[in-house]
Amino acid sequence: MPVVTEADVRGALAKVDDPEIRKPITELGMVKGIRIEPDGNVHVDVYLTTAGCPLRTEITQRVSTAVADVPGVGVVSVDLDVMSDEQRTELRKQLRGDSADPVIPFAQPGSLTRVYAVASGKGGVGKSSVTVNLAAALAERGLSVGVLDADIYGHSIPRMLGTDARPTQVERMIMPPVAHDVKMISIAQFTKGNTPVVWRGPMLHRALQQFLADVFWGDLDVLLLDLPPGTGDVAISIAQLIPNAEILVVTTPQIAAAEVAERAGAIALQTRQRIAGVVENMSWLDLPDGSRMELYGSGGGQVVADRLTRAVGAEVPLLGQIPIEQALREAGDAGTPIVLKDPESPSAVALRGVADKLAIRRRGLAGMSLGIDTTRHL
Ligand SMILES: Nc1ncnc2c1ncn2[C@@H]1O[C@H](COP(=O)(O)OP(=O)(O)O)[C@@H](O)[C@H]1O
Ligand SMILES: [Mg+2]
Repeated sequence: MPVVTEADVRGALAKVDDPEIRKPITELGMVKGIRIEPDGNVHVDVYLTTAGCPLRTEITQRVSTAVADVPGVGVVSVDLDVMSDEQRTELRKQLRGDSADPVIPFAQPGSLTRVYAVASGKGGVGKSSVTVNLAAALAERGLSVGVLDADIYGHSIPRMLGTDARPTQVERMIMPPVAHDVKMISIAQFTKGNTPVVWRGPMLHRALQQFLADVFWGDLDVLLLDLPPGTGDVAISIAQLIPNAEILVVTTPQIAAAEVAERAGAIALQTRQRIAGVVENMSWLDLPDGSRMELYGSGGGQVVADRLTRAVGAEVPLLGQIPIEQALREAGDAGTPIVLKDPESPSAVALRGVADKLAIRRRGLAGMSLGIDTTRHL
């Protein structure tokens, strides 16, 4: 039997990430102590960030599994303790610097996070469905992805990602719940049951600011914002808070819907944001006899893309056409996006195609060519 050393155990613990902060527990000061008995049994004391940490069992399990894998280790036992206020303050400083006021990391010069604001003119065109599916598709490729449900009144992201987990708080940092490898924050996580949110513009602005600055998003490759329909307060707030957010316009093929979508996109002209492209949703229904039924007409997505291209003076591409599929709706209702549940279904293939065209790279590769037009209108 090999003799187990503390360095061996520490090495194993260095591979254990805190499930919320997603950094090794050894770097977060969460390893309180390691005791190795002569017979190879190992005892690990772990600090939790907060007493009510909902992930106690998960952390215990991760630690046990990692240490048990070390050759020579017998029985592993784990004891949990809770950080003191000083330790938590230390952790906060380590994670986000010493600044008194939290800043919005995505708005800082040199931020490596691509931010997409998913916008539409009308409600019910599939904005939230597109958002969660793009998020899941990008996360599946190993990108670090966050979704901010900015549809304060009409929030639907937690249901579509299948979790009612609530964020925990470490000091003043809010830790976003993770579902399907996507970090997410929604006002739904802060309200009781299905109570409506009745807020005026300034309160909406404040809530968004907190979601962007007080939430510990970590090093995201991409942040998707699910905007409420229309060109209201939230869209303007986002433009102020994250000027470099790019707009992704969702529309149906219906010409009437397209006209409204065009207005939602055209707001980018005033706010000087880049329009990443247009996604046409509910484009057609595939019938059992192989024919296509165009329930909502046709051409709307291309019309919006063409008109925005002319308005902006830079190409605004039609990034994809997503067919109507019952399975997409069902997957959303059940909390697993269709790109994960049935990746080869026509709508999932189309949605993954849109994710491809966004051509987001891992942060580590930042600085390489993005392989897509980087025209930024001024
Ligand atoms: N391509 C599609 N095929 C079938 N159902 C869809 C499709 N896109 C969206 N839906 C359904 O339509 C409804 C509205 O979509 P949603 O994403 O909530 O729109 P929005 O966020 O724009 O209001 C939801 O019930 C959703 O499941
Ligand atoms: Mg929605």
